[in-house]
Amino acid sequence: MSRKAFRDVKAYVFDAYGTLFDIGSAAQRLKKELGRKAKPLSDLWRSKQLEYTWLRSLMGCHADFWRVTGDALDYALESHGIEDTALRRRLMNTYLELGAYDDVREALTRLKAAKRRTAILSNGSPKMIETVVQKSGLAPLLDEVLSVEEVAIYKPHPMVYRLAVEHLNAAPDEIAFFSSNPWDVAGAKRFGFRVAWVNRFGQTRERLPDKADAEIKSLAELPKLLGI
Ligand code: LAC
Repeated sequence: MSRKAFRDVKAYVFDAYGTLFDIGSAAQRLKKELGRKAKPLSDLWRSKQLEYTWLRSLMGCHADFWRVTGDALDYALESHGIEDTALRRRLMNTYLELGAYDDVREALTRLKAAKRRTAILSNGSPKMIETVVQKSGLAPLLDEVLSVEEVAIYKPHPMVYRLAVEHLNAAPDEIAFFSSNPWDVAGAKRFGFRVAWVNRFGQTRERLPDKADAEIKSLAELPKLLGI
């Protein structure tokens, strides 16, 4: 672990889905109804959701993350031969009820106790992120909640990471960024942030330019990494 890489940081910025909030919990909660399809459906839903963000960004036809998430769910449901409007509604609503991972509150509390500035920078629409932030009780621990909607393009476009620079009034290398998504890690590092990959799922490193400054398994390692 490279503690030096995180010296003189002015703000600490977190990805939302998969990093702070447990996306896997969405379909898992409906395991009873979905049975063995819960996991593959959830995985396909997430991968299509991300694909659509990248494709829409390349195609110049932005739609907000609620719409993209719904489109991805429709694709995943149809792929699994499921046609059920009530189930679709319940699955979408789980996105407004995602819980935070166990290690999140403590990590943010430590940062606030050390008087550090904290923020979320997410693909999520303002309503989606605000809802989970409020429900999880994390709002008092976050100085800013930033959504890509302000620039109408998705990660990893540099315009998104620039939002943090502008809102937090810090240079890119004065910002420490934490994400569990390896492609987000690559985008953030390319932009110039100091980056820690929160590799919660033991994922394989992306073959993309730029490596994270540190790799941790969960945010429980954050205080040690930052020396706070
Ligand atoms: C986000 C997705 C990438 O919160 O997890 O931006």
